[in-house]
Amino acid sequence: MANIKNALLTSLYAQLAATRAGRDEPSSGVASDTAPAGDELALAEKVAADRALGSIFVPGSGDPDAAVVLVGEAPGRDEEKSKRPFVGAAGKNLDLLLNHIGLTRDQVFITNLVKYRPLTAAGRNRKPSVQESRRALPYLVLELAILDPAVIVCLGAAAASALLHQPNLNMRQANGSRSDLDGRTLFITYHPSPFNFRNPTRRAALFAAFTELGGLLLLGRDRVNSRAGTGYLGTRLDGEHG
Ligand code: URA
Repeated sequence: MANIKNALLTSLYAQLAATRAGRDEPSSGVASDTAPAGDELALAEKVAADRALGSIFVPGSGDPDAAVVLVGEAPGRDEEKSKRPFVGAAGKNLDLLLNHIGLTRDQVFITNLVKYRPLTAAGRNRKPSVQESRRALPYLVLELAILDPAVIVCLGAAAASALLHQPNLNMRQANGSRSDLDGRTLFITYHPSPFNFRNPTRRAALFAAFTELGGLLLLGRDRVNSRAGTGYLGTRLDGEHG
């Protein structure tokens, strides 16, 4: 199965990278004689620069057959450089959270909603805008359809808001919650950013959410469990299934 999924993913990613799909604004169709002039133009250029996305495509990575796919917001500087998701400070935090429930990266698949780095005019990382998230969503949906995981973990509000079509998600309530998304379990946690890790309450809430996730994966409530008598991670649950 991994071969077929890898081939489909490679083709999807190549298409995205080649067509810049999910990156470029569709043409606004604004005629040039309505374009702003002078100060307005300078302001428009600054706003546009503040909304820029990098040009380097950062694909997902990991085991395409994993029961769990984790979805972040978008790559940052480190990810853009290495063309791999979650390799910077947030990635180190994610490793700690995965290790906390006995998992390593090679047992899961990690990707982002937006596959290009959102950056400010000063060249700093920023969160993806609502429009950028909206443009990226159809390609994430295709990616998830190919990967076909039992559990999708949304790391932060961007992925969760986009997939649930809930722009005003309250993360304090959403952290550790789960819902059904077309037959899959959608699990939400705070983003494992350094900002959240520095806050003792959010850091503790993140570890608690991952503990919950670990329990869910062990039990494997629906598909995998009923099919194979094992949890999502293939762990046979002694006594439960004879
Ligand atoms: N934050 C994200 O959401 N994704 C990354 O890949 C890195 C940091």
